[in-house]
Amino acid sequence: MKKKVKLKDGREVLIREMRQDDTDRSLAFFLALPREDVTYLRRDVTRREVVEQRIRAMASDRIVRLVAVAGDEIVADGALELEAQGWSEHLAEIRLVVARPYQRKGLGTLMARELYLLAASKKVEEIIVKIMGPQEGVQNIFKRLGFHPEAVLHHYVKDISGTKQDLVVMRCNLEELWQKLDDHAIDSDWQRTR
Ligand SMILES: CC(C)(COP(=O)(O)OP(=O)(O)OC[C@H]1O[C@@H](n2cnc3c(N)ncnc32)[C@H](O)[C@@H]1OP(=O)(O)O)[C@@H](O)C(=O)NCCC(=O)NCCS
Repeated sequence: MKKKVKLKDGREVLIREMRQDDTDRSLAFFLALPREDVTYLRRDVTRREVVEQRIRAMASDRIVRLVAVAGDEIVADGALELEAQGWSEHLAEIRLVVARPYQRKGLGTLMARELYLLAASKKVEEIIVKIMGPQEGVQNIFKRLGFHPEAVLHHYVKDISGTKQDLVVMRCNLEELWQKLDDHAIDSDWQRTR
């Protein structure tokens, strides 16, 4: 998929699937993130080998990665990770990071929307997002995107500096989300395209 979208400040970016030749662009994106945004990410994506491994993993049909591109620069990175077959095959996990200069311009919402549509096309019913405890602001953003906190695993994961942190699991039921489509986070274009 490829979609040109307009941000709240009028800038246009292209949302597309990540490609095998995106390693340098992806590494540059993660290296430019401020420390507070990198600290709580699941993996140390400021290391080239981790970025290469993420891109290689796309060969599996269980992971879809989207990027938003401005010019030749990646400005947002999103992933939909489908659970393995079996009792959790209707489930997926979402991850999303937007470059600081592009935050608060609606790009996170637009990327989330594309990931939800992808999830729906793959018959996913529930999506979770995992957020570290100190990221209260991010939890509020995901509430606006249709998620609610479901569980807290205390001192469960380690941040990039090795400090143990709570892990907050937030959950979004796609069927319930479709029913709340007039909610502020979801625009009418989504209703037409889903
Ligand atoms: C979470 C994240 C992806 C949101 O991206 P974004 O492009 O800024 O999101 P949007 O502009 O679509 O904002 C959606 C709504 O969330 C809220 N919001 C966004 N940033 C906010 C902030 N810093 N403080 C308070 N509310 C905020 C707003 O209500 C906003 O809607 P509004 O601007 O119409 O009021 C971005 O903040 C980010 O990359 N954070 C660091 C990475 C991370 O922790 N990801 C989560 C783990 S997977």
